[in-house]
Amino acid sequence: MSVDVVILAAGQGSRMKSALPKVLHKVGGKSMVQHVIDTAAQIEHASLHVVIGHGADQVQSLLESQSVQVALQAEQLGTGHAVAQAMPAVTDSGITLVLYGDVPLIQLATLQQMVSLASEGALALLTVSLSDPTGYGRIVRDNASGAVRAIVEHKDASPEQLSITEVNTGILALPSAYLKQWLPQLSANNAQGEYYLTDIIAMAAAQQVQITALQPQAEQEVQGVNNRVQLAELERWYQQQQAQTLMLAGATLADPARIDLRGSLTTGQDVYIDVNCVFEGTVVLGDNVVIESNCSLKNTTVGSGCRIKANSVLESAVLADDCEVGPFARLRPGTQLAANAKIGNFVETKKAVVGEGSKINHLSYVGDAVLGRGVNVGAGTITCNYDGVNKSLTEIGDGAFIGSNSSLVAPVTIGSMATVGAGSTITKNVAAEALALTRAKQAQLDQWPRPQKKADKGDS
Ligand code: UD1
Ligand code: CA
Repeated sequence: MSVDVVILAAGQGSRMKSALPKVLHKVGGKSMVQHVIDTAAQIEHASLHVVIGHGADQVQSLLESQSVQVALQAEQLGTGHAVAQAMPAVTDSGITLVLYGDVPLIQLATLQQMVSLASEGALALLTVSLSDPTGYGRIVRDNASGAVRAIVEHKDASPEQLSITEVNTGILALPSAYLKQWLPQLSANNAQGEYYLTDIIAMAAAQQVQITALQPQAEQEVQGVNNRVQLAELERWYQQQQAQTLMLAGATLADPARIDLRGSLTTGQDVYIDVNCVFEGTVVLGDNVVIESNCSLKNTTVGSGCRIKANSVLESAVLADDCEVGPFARLRPGTQLAANAKIGNFVETKKAVVGEGSKINHLSYVGDAVLGRGVNVGAGTITCNYDGVNKSLTEIGDGAFIGSNSSLVAPVTIGSMATVGAGSTITKNVAAEALALTRAKQAQLDQWPRPQKKADKGDS
């Protein structure tokens, strides 16, 4: 059966105190509404609709490249009114599932359960029991049968109803034909003067439609975000879940409370990750990789047996097996290390292809460069790749040795097994196996008398 998923994302979210629309705030590096879209898109035969209003331009630009239909709710007249904006694009014969752009961590399994109940003709309602139900719509049940009769909003509830602890999460699923019949019957005759979606529950009860309340596996699944405190709470829970998944997949985390994953991290066997590491985008770590403390890896692939030492930053880099990086190294986009390469402390690389077993161990900048195998780049070596206008390439052949504190002014090629003397500024190509050096000859004056302080000529 076809499923139309209506995601409400028109609200202002004023308590976020932000210029950014609430649903664009991120959990685990991904906007809340994107979490909902990604989860809902996994439902079979689903078409997605997002209702936007506040900050519509910003939300819409996120949605542009995605297969979702957008409905504009120009004025926020309530959740019932919001759902109604999407209905013209909803097929009569299917099911409608209502989700919220600010309830990001809803799980697929829960939604599938709801869809299957609704496909049997029921209205499936997701509820939770809260020790403090303040602010939520209360689930009113029949005293005798326990059947759900209605939802009463907090502001409309009697003192007796306020003591009910079972509350509406807002998430529901039902045959679309019912929704199309009931939505036009909503009135705004209530404490908030809004068209409440929740009023359809009493309509369903009156029409003897089966109403089935079910509960999520974890409370956080249905937790909405209204302010940044709640955002941070969900973020922590999300990170804990991800840390657990990593550990169950065989990675050792020095402290599961001190890892942040904003994207996807794939780990081989026996990976060890020390504290305070941040992973962004798509990161892949091979077997036996060690990531020491305070490292940041973004869109990077690390081969088996590599060790990334403390305080290193890697972005869009690809490392073959058994490389060593850091401490305090910065691998920028386009860095490719062949097996056994070593990048040491205070070294920056960019668009640098480093051959097998080559070493850049101390205080260097190597950018727009191709290094062969077994190259040794001495401390403080700089590839001068930029003349202020153009970037040029430095090529270093197999087994070349670059003395410390050398400047290689690109475009330039150092032949294989060539040697560059320390402190040289290399502006011309160096032939294979040659020695090139540009430093001035050292002078020496023996028994040189040091200057003396001049006698004071003043009269004081
Ligand atoms: C709603 C439910 C309440 C439930 C609670 C769970 C109704 C009437 N009440 O209350 O039973 O316990 O959620 O959090 O449905 N939105 C729009 N357009 C609107 C109004 C709201 O898109 O005109 C969106 C908001 O952006 C938000 C969601 O709908 O994502 C819920 O709106 P909100 O005003 O927070 O509803 P509550 O009063 O919390
Ligand atoms: Ca709310």
